[in-house]
Amino acid sequence: VLDKTYTIRATSNIAFIKYWGRRNHELNLPYNSSISMTLDENLSATTSVEFSNSFKEDMLIIDGKRQDLNFQRSEKASYLRRALEHARKTAGLNAHALVVSENNFPSGTGLASSAAGAAALSLAIVKALDLKIDTREISKIARQVSGSGCRSLHGGIVKWHRGTHHDGSDSFAEQLFDTSYWPELIDLVAIVTTSSKKVSSSEGHTLTPRTSRLYDLRPKIAEAEAKKAETAIRNRDFNLLAEIVMRDSNNLHAVCLDSWPPIIYLNDVSRAIIYAIHELNENYGKNVAAYTFDAGANAHIITTQKHRAAVEGTLSSINGIKRVLYSKQGNGPRLLSEGKSLINDEVIRHTGIYKY
Ligand code: PMV
Repeated sequence: VLDKTYTIRATSNIAFIKYWGRRNHELNLPYNSSISMTLDENLSATTSVEFSNSFKEDMLIIDGKRQDLNFQRSEKASYLRRALEHARKTAGLNAHALVVSENNFPSGTGLASSAAGAAALSLAIVKALDLKIDTREISKIARQVSGSGCRSLHGGIVKWHRGTHHDGSDSFAEQLFDTSYWPELIDLVAIVTTSSKKVSSSEGHTLTPRTSRLYDLRPKIAEAEAKKAETAIRNRDFNLLAEIVMRDSNNLHAVCLDSWPPIIYLNDVSRAIIYAIHELNENYGKNVAAYTFDAGANAHIITTQKHRAAVEGTLSSINGIKRVLYSKQGNGPRLLSEGKSLINDEVIRHTGIYKY
C-alpha cells in the first residue's frame, strides 16, 4: 500500500536465557535458544513506515536524528537495508521508504532498545507493504535487524529457537505463555548508567565465540538451561526460575570477561546489586528476586508483585542507582491509529525526501 503510513508500537524484552554469540553473521543466527519476558509500554519503541514512489531514497530517522544508511560499518543501517530489500522483493516493488522511530527510554544503556525498535520496524514494513506472511516469517525479518528483536514480536514469555539449518529457516521466535499465565512476574530495572556501552552487543556476538575459551561450553549449557527455564515457568516455580536466570546472566558475563580483549559490562554498582539480591534471598530462605544484566551495567530484577516492595527497599539502599523503572509483562506489539503517526507533511518536507 503506497503513500500510506503504518505505525507500530513494540516493547522491549528481558532475556532469562540470553543470546550471546552468532553462528552466522549475515543471517544473525544464534548458537543457543533464548527465552525472554516481553516488557510493557514503559519500555517501548514506536515506528512509522511509509513507502512511496515519490521518495528519492530510503531514509531512517531515530529519535529525531537522521541515520546514514550508506555508512557501511553501521550494523543498524545494513540490517535496515537488508530488511527493506527483503520486504520489497517479497512485495515485488521498488518504492523507497521513510522510517521514523522513537524510543521512550534511554538508548545505549544496555536496555535492549534495539529489540523494541527492530520488532516495530519489521511489523510496520510488513503492514505498509501488505505482505501476506505469518509471524514466523516476520520473526525472521526482525531477527536480522536485531537478534533479540524477534522475541519482541510476541507478548508474555517467548522462546527464540536457535534452529539448526544453515539458511535460518528454523530460527524464529514463538510465544510460550501469554501474559495471563503468570501475571505476577515483573521486572524492576535499576538504571545505573545512561552512557553508551563501549562494546556493542553486535561486536560481542562475534568477539566472544572467536576468542573466549570458555565460550565452547556456553551453547550446550544455555540450551539445557532454556529447557529448565521453560519447565520452571510452566510450574510457576519462582525459586528455581530465579536461580536459572541469575546463573545465565553470570555465565554470559563470565564468557565476556574471558573474551580477548575482555568485555566488561558490570561495574561496582552492578556488583553491589548482585550481592544485595543474594542477601535478600538468603533472608527469605528462598529466591524472591533474580538479577540479570544485558550488555550494560543496568540491572533487571525479575521478581513477583508480592515482593516488589521488598526489592524496591533493597534497591533504595544501594548508592549509585539513578532510577528504578517498573514493568509488567507486555502483550506484544500493536498497530496505532493514523493520528499517532510520526510521519506527517511537515516531517516529509523537513527531510527533503521528495523527488519533486
Ligand atoms: O539482539 P542484540 O544483538 O542486541 O543482542 C542481545 C544481547 C543480550 O541483550 C545481552 C541478550 C539477549 O538475549 O537479549
